[in-house]
Amino acid sequence: MTDHAALSAGLPGAPQIAYRNGTLHLEQASLAALASDYGTPLFVYSKAAMLSALAAYQKGLAGRDAQICYAMKANSSLGVLQVFAEAGCGFDIVSGGELERVQAVGGDMRKVIFSGVGKTRAEMQQALAADIGCFNVESEAELDVLSEVALAMGRIAPVSIRVNPNVDPKTHPYISTGLKGNKFGVAHEEALRIYQHAASLKGLRVTGIDCHIGSQITDTTPYLDAMDRVLDLVASIEAAGIPIEHIDFGGGLGINYEQDTPPAADALWQALLARLDARGYGRKKLMIEPGRSLVGNAGVCLAEVLYLKPGEHKNFCIIDAAMNDLPRPAMYQAFHAIVPVVPRDGLPGMTCDVVGPVCESGDWIGRDRHLAVAPGDHVAVLSAGAYCMSMASNYNTRGRAAELLVDGLAVHLIRERESAADQMRTEKMVRR
Ligand code: LLP
Repeated sequence: MTDHAALSAGLPGAPQIAYRNGTLHLEQASLAALASDYGTPLFVYSKAAMLSALAAYQKGLAGRDAQICYAMKANSSLGVLQVFAEAGCGFDIVSGGELERVQAVGGDMRKVIFSGVGKTRAEMQQALAADIGCFNVESEAELDVLSEVALAMGRIAPVSIRVNPNVDPKTHPYISTGLKGNKFGVAHEEALRIYQHAASLKGLRVTGIDCHIGSQITDTTPYLDAMDRVLDLVASIEAAGIPIEHIDFGGGLGINYEQDTPPAADALWQALLARLDARGYGRKKLMIEPGRSLVGNAGVCLAEVLYLKPGEHKNFCIIDAAMNDLPRPAMYQAFHAIVPVVPRDGLPGMTCDVVGPVCESGDWIGRDRHLAVAPGDHVAVLSAGAYCMSMASNYNTRGRAAELLVDGLAVHLIRERESAADQMRTEKMVRR
């Protein structure tokens, strides 16, 4: 194995991220050059990695009547949305703000589904006026309000009801959503009655059924179990005279952060379609809402090492990216690999916690990592394409990072670094 191949071998993430000539690259772009040119912290995404993640789903669903709706909460930057809109994806949205983002990139509104337990009347009006494809409704009370809002606008809202299949996705409790006791969806036992209620409401047209059991799922079994539970319901709902035109299986497929081994999207769908066919539902229209698995491994966050701080109990490597840029470790104890952009020879290195400048003990990006770096070096936090920038905050009045989209030889700045003035723009001082 050549040196760069050896260095690259252990990297989680898309094959577009690799060492070449002693420097980490994303596609054709040297991440050392990008960090110097654009400053840090800096998110860099590979368009090819996103499209190849999408291609795995397209391959798995080939020949079927299927719509892929990118769950844009994973990364809703306009330049990222453009990639998926141009590739023919629809979008799974959860707010009026996300709807405006789809409109901004010229996405197809008929391919938009609106999920979430707390849609406001104003958001319902906005989505009805935009003529979106479907509302994924999460409670009986929401059905009533949606019908009322639609009737007042002289419209009929297309609806799917999110059912809670009560299966354990075996993932972090904060990101498992399909168990009893989660706020999401309606209980399996109540679903038929709620469908009958929906069918009786004049402002609604029942079109589908949906479920979403959690995120970062690395096993096929919970998906098969959820599918069985949903198909049982489809049978009873249709037997009650309510046709179900589409089935939406949500998102949730995991990615490799460390030593995770999720099934490939095409393999997952091969197994799911076999079950669907065996149960006689292979010709139904399918919808899916993947987020993380389309973008997570397509992005990195570059940061500069500011200081090394050896200590009696722990060593710290202080970088210029923090929990406001990369909130997943603080929120879910999540693991992101952290690697030097230009690995050094001959430096002994140390085991350290990689932390940011934010004034919180919870501001850590990696714990007990072995790193051979010096101040001024750049590191790359891997698998940072999903749920990083979209969850970033301005805590400590830190501006949000800049973002680049790499497309072969081209590098596009898709978000400028946020200034303090940007952050203060909507604030007002009290007049004296
Ligand atoms: N559909 C619905 C209704 C969802 O609630 C979600 C994610 C998705 C689709 C997309 O799931 P994905 O394919 O990305 O797993 N911030 C957490 C993840 C929260 C996921 C919330 N819902 C994290 O950083 O791990």
